[in-house]
Amino acid sequence: MTLSSNFKDLLSEGVRTCWRSPANIALIKYWGKKGHQLPANPSLSFALTEAYTITRVEAKLNAAGDGPRVSFTFEGERNQPFALKIEEFLKELLPHLDYLPYVSLTIESGNSFPHSAGIASSASAMSALALTLICIEQQLLDIRMDDETFYRKASNIARLGSGSACRSVYGGYTVWGKHPDIAESSDNYAVPIDFTPGNLFENIKDTILLVDQEPKKVSSRAGQQLMNYHPFAKARFEQAVTNLSKLKKSLIENDWDTFASVTENEALSLHAMMMTSSPGYILMRPNTLNIVEHIDKKRKQNHIKVCYTLDAGPNIHLLYPEEETEKALQLIAELKQYCSGGMMIHDKIGSGPENKHCK
Ligand code: DP6
Repeated sequence: MTLSSNFKDLLSEGVRTCWRSPANIALIKYWGKKGHQLPANPSLSFALTEAYTITRVEAKLNAAGDGPRVSFTFEGERNQPFALKIEEFLKELLPHLDYLPYVSLTIESGNSFPHSAGIASSASAMSALALTLICIEQQLLDIRMDDETFYRKASNIARLGSGSACRSVYGGYTVWGKHPDIAESSDNYAVPIDFTPGNLFENIKDTILLVDQEPKKVSSRAGQQLMNYHPFAKARFEQAVTNLSKLKKSLIENDWDTFASVTENEALSLHAMMMTSSPGYILMRPNTLNIVEHIDKKRKQNHIKVCYTLDAGPNIHLLYPEEETEKALQLIAELKQYCSGGMMIHDKIGSGPENKHCK
């Protein structure tokens, strides 16, 4: 690639951008890959509001063309493990973003939630970075992408950093992976679902009950690899396709009971895959099960519209419609005893990334 003079001028001055991007919670789980960072089954999630990453990037000229050179800080400090992940990610992106060799990037990142909280941060972090990189590309090449092209490209790039991150570039409910019920769906990028959810699901809430904040024994990446040789893999991938159809229908038809049973089936199936991998492992903790049992019991007694899901860890995401908040909060008060240090995060469905409030 030859640098245009405009490109050089822009970079000599420095091109800056900043994005805030949320974490998401999967209802239909991505667990298993094919090809190059493509999903073995489609997944469906919604964006959160309170759990997000803010990433600021400044790109300056690196005339040597051996970049990208990177200076990275997390919450104001150098962070070697994160820096290595980002360098690896940027190397992956060289074939996708022609300008990368010609820049030195100063990247500053931070999370809204404590890093030790045990919440997966790769989705918010990688999606925020992907959005900044596409934004810089637009400025440097002076191209104007329409919104759909911009977010699809950001989603495609984010996927290469972390699969679940490709769903975080949108607000609301999102699908990643080809599915017969979602015409525009793709394995390469996520798409927002084009539908109106029933009123129970429009403003759905998610209280994250922090059972254990220790680093995970087995990373998602390593766990996903075990699906390559898993004896139940084929059945699991088919189950996800069927569950996604059922879940989408329940969202449209405002059917809480089906939504709850499919969501919990997905959470338990995910952990069943981990337990029956070779080697098998257990990420749930005794208090994860105490919470599940307590929810089951109270839900039967009081007919509360709540259900739970888990990601690849011991923490419980308690989901409930906005109108059920009062009853859910009573239940949550009872569940506090099972949380590490009584810690929980009250979150809800969100409207996706933004770069307005990023000063
Ligand atoms: C259980 O997206 O973290 O949260 O692509 O290897 O980075 P990599 O995996 P990652 O896996 C997330 C798994 C999950 C389910 C989900 O979010 O769909």
